[in-house]
Amino acid sequence: MTANGNAPGNQDLSQQIRAIKQRLGSRLVMPAHHYQRAEIVALADFIGDSYRLAKEGAAAQADYIVFCGVRFMAESAAILARPGQKVLIPDPVAGCPMADMIEAEAAETILQSLDKLCGQTVIPLTYMNSYADMKALTGRRGGAICTSSNAAKLLTHYFAAGQPVFFGPDYNLGINTARQLKLPAAEIFRVARDGSRHGLVLDADPAKARLYLWDGFCHVHKRFKPEDIAAARQRHPGSHIIVHPESDEAVVQAADSSGSTEAIYKAVATGQPGSSWIVGTEASFVHRIAAEFGDRLVLPLRESYCFNMARITLDNVLACLQSIESHESTAAKPLLHLVQVDEAIRSDAAAALKAMIAIVEGPALVQGGRS
Ligand code: 13P
Ligand code: SF4
Repeated sequence: MTANGNAPGNQDLSQQIRAIKQRLGSRLVMPAHHYQRAEIVALADFIGDSYRLAKEGAAAQADYIVFCGVRFMAESAAILARPGQKVLIPDPVAGCPMADMIEAEAAETILQSLDKLCGQTVIPLTYMNSYADMKALTGRRGGAICTSSNAAKLLTHYFAAGQPVFFGPDYNLGINTARQLKLPAAEIFRVARDGSRHGLVLDADPAKARLYLWDGFCHVHKRFKPEDIAAARQRHPGSHIIVHPESDEAVVQAADSSGSTEAIYKAVATGQPGSSWIVGTEASFVHRIAAEFGDRLVLPLRESYCFNMARITLDNVLACLQSIESHESTAAKPLLHLVQVDEAIRSDAAAALKAMIAIVEGPALVQGGRS
């Protein structure tokens, strides 16, 4: 295996992918999330965290977007795609258990009861790790999508407008952002993820709450414990410990810093040769940056993997690209794993994604794609 993950058997597949990419030229773009396998990252046109992928994906002019990431990411690209642009995902089974922890129907019920409780409209601020129905509900209610790189900015935006916020599905990103903004505990209200009645857990006074948190989680980041940090400090004194904010609050508090995958990548990339990093996020990403920055010590806080991200392989990427070439030569041949979103859902979901980009970047950048 080489540094970019190319085992000898993979080289042939990589070459075939490169050849098709060359033939399609600017008609194809292949984005990849930071958690993708090293051999996929090596072939990608751009890599990033989920915010960067959404923003750059929305600006892409290509006819085909082959999205190397999990389904909610490819779906977001399809929601923001221009008319006629096609988004394909090499393995549609690549899901995200956290995104499955909230659905629009349950959220609508809870939002209606929160509206009554607050005597005003509660704004949904929905994590990117959610599916199109949830994003559409968010858009319909005048809310926005957020990612770990901008949750603080979006929450601040809605609080400044005096609006209470319902945040989901990731409880940890919500509570870690609330702590970063120094929101008083009495203003935070946890909403139970209860399949039958979507009940409220009264661990704060609902009349005073400004932030309602759904209690979804990421099993990959749940595995990190404060004890892992204590052990890492003992074993590698002087290391900088950086974790993803999907980790438990106690882990984020015990770490030296936290941030999105892009922020983690940049922190290590701008570190000094000889510096030492302990990273609490998906382990294949940590091993990839360790290989890229060989003059620094980069270790995972714990070996915790996202098997959904790993479902994207050279084999299924190649199959997707081959289907594009067949489709180009004979239109009757279907594209493999085309991502499709109902128009009624898509336009509301696009409004929520564009609201995020407008708040983060300013309205001038929200061009292209469809409304
Ligand atoms: P980022 O937006 O930081 O890339 O996070 C996406 C994700 O799914 C982390 O588990
Ligand atoms: Fe979902 Fe967690 Fe995998 Fe991210 S790491 S895609 S939140 S399961």
